[in-house]
Amino acid sequence: MTVATGVTRFTVNGVGVEVDAPGGRRLLDVLRVDLGLTGAKEGCGEGECGSCSVLLDGRVVASCLVPLCQAEGRTVTTVEGLWADGRLDPLQVALLETGGVQCGICTPGMVVAGRAFLDAGGDPTDAAIREAIAGDLCRCTGYTRIVEAIRRAALATPDGSVAVNSDDRPPIAWPPPVPRTPARWDGAAATTISPRALDEALAALAAGGARPIAGGTDLMVQLAHAAADGTALLDLSGLDELRGIRLEDDAADPAATDGAPGGMPGAPATLVVGALTTYAELRASTLVAEHLPVLAEVAATVGAAQIQNRGTLGGNVVNASPAGDMLPVLLVTDASIVLRSVRGERVVAADAFWPAYRRTACAPDELVVAVRFPLVPGRVVRARKVGGRRAQVIGKTIVAAAWRADGGLLRDVRVAAGSVAPTPVRVPGAEAALEGACPDAATADRAAAAIAAGITPIDDVRSTAEYRRLATGRVLRRMVLEAGPA
Ligand SMILES: Cc1cc2nc3c(=O)[nH]c(=O)nc-3n(C[C@H](O)[C@H](O)[C@H](O)COP(=O)(O)OP(=O)(O)OC[C@H]3O[C@@H](n4cnc5c(N)ncnc54)[C@H](O)[C@@H]3O)c2cc1C
Ligand code: FES
Ligand code: FES
Repeated sequence: MTVATGVTRFTVNGVGVEVDAPGGRRLLDVLRVDLGLTGAKEGCGEGECGSCSVLLDGRVVASCLVPLCQAEGRTVTTVEGLWADGRLDPLQVALLETGGVQCGICTPGMVVAGRAFLDAGGDPTDAAIREAIAGDLCRCTGYTRIVEAIRRAALATPDGSVAVNSDDRPPIAWPPPVPRTPARWDGAAATTISPRALDEALAALAAGGARPIAGGTDLMVQLAHAAADGTALLDLSGLDELRGIRLEDDAADPAATDGAPGGMPGAPATLVVGALTTYAELRASTLVAEHLPVLAEVAATVGAAQIQNRGTLGGNVVNASPAGDMLPVLLVTDASIVLRSVRGERVVAADAFWPAYRRTACAPDELVVAVRFPLVPGRVVRARKVGGRRAQVIGKTIVAAAWRADGGLLRDVRVAAGSVAPTPVRVPGAEAALEGACPDAATADRAAAAIAAGITPIDDVRSTAEYRRLATGRVLRRMVLEAGPA
């Protein structure tokens, strides 16, 4: 086990660096203050604006939410690192040519997020580009010119000679900054414990004084507003036991993992998703796409690329926000949460996992290791979030529903909602209105009225209770109508 109170070693823009600072220090501060790389900007400091974006092992992340310890052994690329051959990156040239830069505050983050999209080789459609930069806010340009610039850069050959003429790329008039030798930093950020095996992590938790951190997309925001209390961060990112998505076949031995299908046709099975599985991994999983695609659909609506590349299912479950997008899905799929401690393993049904506002069944010495989703033949699962805009939004209401269609009728109905009560909730009244019913307009109206009556929303900064009741009913009504005729 590594207790990271000292040096973290990683590569920044091709240069190996050693940083002597507490492992809980934000990567953004390390880059800007300790290493003198000021391309990444601090805007919101909470993962919302994208101005601090960098690439971590090639994936775009918000460096304000990454603790230094999670950079250990990894590769960081900042906007300064894109000036490869002494000339601007073709995307930077395209931004200049299209007028995609005005005040420039968002530009480093846009360039980094755009470069991640280009390097992934995706189809540069308008929708795909907008999704790729959805985590990067620009208050000046209206985005159209930025989207155009990314499209032009996508059409450029690697040397930029098609849409962006490489001869026209201005040479950089000053040498790109290389990371400087960091000064010793003496601020009061959390120390970290970085176990490499689950047993070590559980022993550290049992000893007390340590708080787990996975992707940090909730915790780093909370810590930024909290007084230091001497608690160490227990970095879960090195625990392979918490990774992976696999199919457990209840009848036969072969258990499939992503990319390796297996199991007996028709046998009851369970999809087991490791706690450290990120939203990006849920979206990319062939097992999820085949067996429980709603997980990928919901993952695609969580935050934007910077959050999806870091945020984990386990973090969403333990953070226990009533607005956690995944939680209603866990309720309607009869999922269960696997907990491990030095005392052993136990499994808690999602129904019993969130007993009160921001409370969970996870004891302080326990870790969530996985979520188990029983796969029910013929079960349809739907989920929808209503927010102020498409990306980077916390739901005003979240509705999930599951059923089996049987002879034109809905059977085994489950309905759950988030953001409309102190915890994510099942709504028995709406389930009763749908159970055994034909999914027609009258049933849809009854279900909408029942769910509106069965939730306890409040007025807050995101919405009013009245709107939440109305929208929750409307969403369920539409789901029912889309289900019929069954
Ligand atoms: C800009 C932004 C947008 C967001 N958008 C959304 C959204 O649209 N929908 C949504 O639902 N959420 C959203 N979130 C919240 C967050 O991204 C998710 O809740 C995410 O799943 C948290 O996972 P994490 O790995 O980052 O958790 P962390 O921040 O690492 O941890 C969260 C909590 O869980 C605990 N924990 C983590 N893993 C474990 C484990 N395996 N065992 C025990 N305890 C554990 C930590 O101690 C901490 O208390 C957003 C956050 C930001 C900053
Ligand atoms: S500073 Fe806004 S996302 Fe990091
Ligand atoms: S150019 Fe000003 S915020 Fe984007």
